[in-house]
Amino acid sequence: MSARRSTPLQRPVVGAGNHLDLKQDLVANLSNVSSLRDFGGCYIVEGRYLLEPAKAIGAKFVSMVDHGDTSAYQARAEEAALFLPDTRFETVNADFRHAATFTGLEPVDASILFEVLMHQENYSEVVRNVTSTSNKFVCVAQPCLREEWFPLPSSSTLLQFWDEELKDEIRRDSFWPKEERATTFTSASWMWGHTTSHLIDLFGGYGWSLEHGEVIPNVCGAHWEYPLLVFRAPA
Ligand SMILES: C[S@@+](CC[C@H](N)C(=O)[O-])C[C@H]1O[C@@H](n2cnc3c(N)ncnc32)[C@H](O)[C@@H]1O
Repeated sequence: MSARRSTPLQRPVVGAGNHLDLKQDLVANLSNVSSLRDFGGCYIVEGRYLLEPAKAIGAKFVSMVDHGDTSAYQARAEEAALFLPDTRFETVNADFRHAATFTGLEPVDASILFEVLMHQENYSEVVRNVTSTSNKFVCVAQPCLREEWFPLPSSSTLLQFWDEELKDEIRRDSFWPKEERATTFTSASWMWGHTTSHLIDLFGGYGWSLEHGEVIPNVCGAHWEYPLLVFRAPA
């Protein structure tokens, strides 16, 4: 029996370039979008993937959901508001693993999930809630383990509890930092090695189709690829 991926992905390989710019462009190039929400967009990047596209498309509603320190983001959002005086800005300081976080969220045209799904023990539930509060698109970008690691298609692995020697090999030349050893789930640690095909099938399970997909090499070491994905809501 040969193992086939359940969802083929057109995989044009683009130059490594600057993957930060490519993530930003993925959002800025969405069509017919006037409201954006970023889930986990604060750490280091201070809302860059939300605010720069919001300025580019003239967004009317801009929402950030992050349970970390949002103060640097807030300062950036205030700067962005000078360019977007009629835009509503919302910051929700909450944990998006919890269903209750989504009950008060107004639906948006497009949501952003950049480098967050691999930190959530219930990432499938997070995708279900994010897709149910998104009208048109969800953008995903994160390191994914190369498909060649898995004999079966659409795989993912819970690498958080692997022994350190194996983790160190997978970490080689990547930006997965050495972490304190975790014995129970924490969103501060890298939990999952998803494959790109696993993410595509996960969204497919909620009726969402792949609108755009490309894979950037050489972003996170030899064992990882870096997909940039846009999913479209069911018609
Ligand atoms: C690895 S950083 C990614 C930052 C940015 N999105 C990027 O692509 O560079 C993870 C961010 O998501 C936030 N985060 C992670 N898990 C979260 C959760 N369950 N609920 C809310 N925020 C979360 C963290 O506070 C942090 O700002």
